[in-house]
Amino acid sequence: MASVLEQIKQYTTIVADSGDFETIAQYKPQDATTNPSLILAASQKPQYAGLINDAIEYGKKKGSNPEEQLEWAVDKLLVNFGKEILKIVPGRVSTEVDARLSFDRDANVAKAIRLIKLYEEEGINKERVLIKIASTWEGIQAASILEKEHGIHCNLTLLFGFPQAVACAEAGVTLISPFVGRILDWYKKSTGQTYESHNDPGVLSVSKIYNYYKQYGYNTIVMGASFRNTGEIEELAGCDFLTISPALLGELQKDTKQISAKLSVEKAKAQEIPKVAYFTNEKAFRWDMNEDAMATEKLSEGIRNFAKDGRKLEAMLKEKL
Ligand SMILES: *[C@@H]1O[C@H](CO)[C@@H](O)[C@H](O)[C@H]1NC(C)=O
Repeated sequence: MASVLEQIKQYTTIVADSGDFETIAQYKPQDATTNPSLILAASQKPQYAGLINDAIEYGKKKGSNPEEQLEWAVDKLLVNFGKEILKIVPGRVSTEVDARLSFDRDANVAKAIRLIKLYEEEGINKERVLIKIASTWEGIQAASILEKEHGIHCNLTLLFGFPQAVACAEAGVTLISPFVGRILDWYKKSTGQTYESHNDPGVLSVSKIYNYYKQYGYNTIVMGASFRNTGEIEELAGCDFLTISPALLGELQKDTKQISAKLSVEKAKAQEIPKVAYFTNEKAFRWDMNEDAMATEKLSEGIRNFAKDGRKLEAMLKEKL
């Protein structure tokens, strides 16, 4: 009998959501991601000192004042880690734009272009990189420019609300990573209720996005992320991509019960889902996001936490400059 993991793999690309470089090496996922907190954790280890020193030297060389030097060093460090990951994974690495730029379209665009240039200096083609941007109004507008005018692929993150997902598809974004577990956490906390997998609000959110995309033929990849249990994953069997922690991968590997695809293009097409538009409708986007307390709060919280990590990374490099 095939494991649940093997069964899901028939319909869905599974990506290991790995916390550190050793795990990436162990699970050999197709794609992987970097972010300031992962880099901060890794940078405590002696084997990565070379990557940090290289970034410091690069910053000193490129910047004409301390602020510029720091910015170059941070960007170079992100790219150095991304490059290491690309030695292990066959697919793409996601590299995050500084979350403090989340409300500035042009700054997001400029930063993404700069990161891609740094990758290209290292001989890495932009096809192997996804630029990770928070799904704010400005972030989605930036992603549209990057995808259409620069051929730079984006991974839109901190995606909790349907308006964000619709706008990303209309913007021609390569991939979105809607969160499942964080949505469940919010609902449990705010309602005091418990949820089964089939009525888990995170599962319902990703299913709705998937069905809408397939109904209207959008190519944007839906990659469900942040799972709290295997039930959520089984309910999303059939989704384009799912990124799963090593612990939950292990559980799915052990289980041999029979499962079936919950999501499919045919099922999605059979549904009646009204068409909506957000990408060119800023007022509707902001209003409908604001009406969704969960999406509003989780997006803000996510940006705050990413920004905190970014500042810590800066502080670490500043000391060494
Ligand atoms: C996209 O970003 C999410 C986090 O926001 C990450 O978990 C995922 O691995 C990234 N996807 C890819 C394909 O790099």
